[in-house]
Amino acid sequence: MNILITGATGFIGRQLVRRLRQGHHIITVLSRNARRAGEILGVPAYGWDYATQDVPSEAIKDCQIIINLMGENLGEGRWTQARKHEIYASRILSTRKLVAAAPDSLHTFVCGSAIGIYPGIGDECYDESYAVPEQLGFMQSICHDWEQEAARIESNGVRRASIRTGVVLGDGGMLRKLLPLFKLGLGGPVGNGQQWLPWIHIDDIVSIYIAAALDSRYQGPINAVAPNPVRYREFTAALGQALQRPAFFPTPTFILKLALGEAAALALNSYRIAPKRLLEEFGFQFKFHDLPTALANLYRQH
Ligand SMILES: NC(=O)c1ccc[n+]([C@@H]2O[C@H](COP(=O)([O-])OP(=O)(O)OC[C@H]3O[C@@H](n4cnc5c(N)ncnc54)[C@H](OP(=O)(O)O)[C@@H]3O)[C@@H](O)[C@H]2O)c1
Repeated sequence: MNILITGATGFIGRQLVRRLRQGHHIITVLSRNARRAGEILGVPAYGWDYATQDVPSEAIKDCQIIINLMGENLGEGRWTQARKHEIYASRILSTRKLVAAAPDSLHTFVCGSAIGIYPGIGDECYDESYAVPEQLGFMQSICHDWEQEAARIESNGVRRASIRTGVVLGDGGMLRKLLPLFKLGLGGPVGNGQQWLPWIHIDDIVSIYIAAALDSRYQGPINAVAPNPVRYREFTAALGQALQRPAFFPTPTFILKLALGEAAALALNSYRIAPKRLLEEFGFQFKFHDLPTALANLYRQH
């Protein structure tokens, strides 16, 4: 397949490109820095500044599948008004431009989304049947608007899947930022530790993106989280154990903020999410069902 990927130099994108290349697909990527992206990924890369430019036509012209992962990282620095705008626009405006530029050859559009579309409080378990209300907070509105922009492509007869991603565990993202705290013995529960953390191993999220790209049953919103979410207290205990470090004492919020920036507030939210469609409709086979096994896989060499 001829596949165009945005955000390909990121934590998920790099692994995705690596796996797709093994499948002998033709990969092209869009990046803010084409030279760097080409060097990192070893595939043709085109420069694109979504805020000031249309999608370069030579990059998109023959593509059959778009996988859209780009977006300002939530975990870098303070959420000033300008950064909040960038977090929003780098997802929503870029998606709008990709949809507008879609060539006739395109049949599939796979777009990022996140479990942030759910309310983030309490013990209630949510699946894809959740009806998004009209009044939305910042995280919910980003995810909702991102999905709405992507869904516009369906009027061109293009299949669209929005991957509502949980906290991805691997060599990047939140885990990479928490690791120094745990290595210093400063990692532990945050708040009362009862909040739910919807994790997913990097290998599984990459497999879900590939399945969504290639399997025509994947359409609409899809929760991409492991089948066994844990409470934050269990997560820190399991991570401490995997790293052979103590993790009993609560991490003060200001320390967590040093590691995660303003995204630390999200660690206090509670997301109990079920991957209902993956399990019941698509029969997706998770490689990592439970957290200790996932962490042992990531940290066995430590
Ligand atoms: N990792 C997770 O746990 C997680 C959880 C839920 C949802 N997601 C979503 O899944 C997507 C991929 O996640 P990831 O962890 O791989 O992200 P990432 O490592 O932060 O990478 C995102 C990529 O987007 C591009 N980008 C960053 N800031 C940008 C900006 N201001 N304007 C335009 N492009 C920008 C960058 O590519 P270039 O530098 O090459 O342009 C970057 O490599 C993201 O949209 C994220 O929100 C991730």
